[in-house]
Amino acid sequence: QNSKHKGVWPLIFHGSFVLAPSFGEVIIKKDQLIILDELTGDISEIAEGGKLSEVLKQRGWKRSCVLHLKEGQLLVPGLIDTHCHAPQYQFTGTGTHIIELMQWLQHYTFPAERRLKDIEVARKVYTALINRLLSNGTTTALYFATIHEESCKLFADLAEDLGQRALIGKVAMDQHGGEDYEETTEVALASTESFVKYVLEKKCSRVLPVVTPRFIPTCSDACLKGLGEIAKKYDVHIQSHISESQDEMAFVDSLHPGKSDTEIYDKFGLLTAKTVMAHGCHLKRHERDVLRARGAAVSHCPHSNLFFGDANLNAKQCVFEKLKLGLGTDVAGGYSYSMFHSIRSAVTTGRNVRIDFLRGVKDDPAACDVPVDTEPLDYKEAFWIATQGGAEALDLQHRIGR
Ligand code: GUN
Ligand code: FE
Repeated sequence: QNSKHKGVWPLIFHGSFVLAPSFGEVIIKKDQLIILDELTGDISEIAEGGKLSEVLKQRGWKRSCVLHLKEGQLLVPGLIDTHCHAPQYQFTGTGTHIIELMQWLQHYTFPAERRLKDIEVARKVYTALINRLLSNGTTTALYFATIHEESCKLFADLAEDLGQRALIGKVAMDQHGGEDYEETTEVALASTESFVKYVLEKKCSRVLPVVTPRFIPTCSDACLKGLGEIAKKYDVHIQSHISESQDEMAFVDSLHPGKSDTEIYDKFGLLTAKTVMAHGCHLKRHERDVLRARGAAVSHCPHSNLFFGDANLNAKQCVFEKLKLGLGTDVAGGYSYSMFHSIRSAVTTGRNVRIDFLRGVKDDPAACDVPVDTEPLDYKEAFWIATQGGAEALDLQHRIGR
């Protein structure tokens, strides 16, 4: 801590940084000063390294305000995880013996999430995860929590205290959660509203509430309708899963014959400019058109898609269609909490677009109209999705991403 400037230290970073200002463009700037605002800690200015003495003199700051990066150190914009199930951190890297998503949810996921009813379990899991993500460069995350209101409130407190920008959703599910892991419709709606109010009234500097129907099969129409109304009333973010896998879509079809996830979410006002839908591997072009028209984003979770082996999203096609696109870990469907790992997976799976399931085609060529010879996703493009793309997906591009 600098004695004169309590709160913010350092006030200047001196070194090299890298950023992706547009899709496919990565620039490295060497010998730069990143100057912060004394009060807020926001970046106020960027200047050439040679101007250091001048800047210090101008502002009356001491040399101790500067943090000089070491040789080989590089600053990157904070990485943005646009899809992470915080309670599932408990079993990352395990739960690998089941292939189908729906079975995996019943067998591993719901029992693990149920444990967070206990506030002390929640404290342990959420503290560990937030610290893990921060130490891996994830400064912003869009989280699914669990159905438990009190531990969700604790999660918001922890994120604020530990210094991560977090968008947190109390999960709503009033059906098909199995024993002990679903709520009545009334409780799902009342606890969602109570959580949203709690976070908004707390006036956090970095934490926002998110209306979170888990996915179509676990939410009745009444629940989806009520959630759409809460999101509108408080003008808050919305997140869920969309067209992720064939077994999920078959489940939806059995409950809503002939209807797609997109039609159902849209009917209940759940596709807005503050919506992020995870996966979208099987979205048809006309469905992606609906998402784009509403300003809704997709979170690309390549590692999870590879894990379940059902279908992968064609990320490049989405960007070409001007769909908002972020990158996500999908912990614990994705067994790595690191966004660097997601970037690698995006590149690797994106390079293999000739393999049908990696193109999002499996058994349904109509699902994907991307030519087989589409150029693969480049590392620069993946880095953009993990930073600026995520910022746009969260509608926070005015604050983060660059
Ligand atoms: N669909 C509904 N819930 C989940 C979940 O927890 N993980 C994944 N990958 N898909 C889901
Ligand atoms: Fe997920």
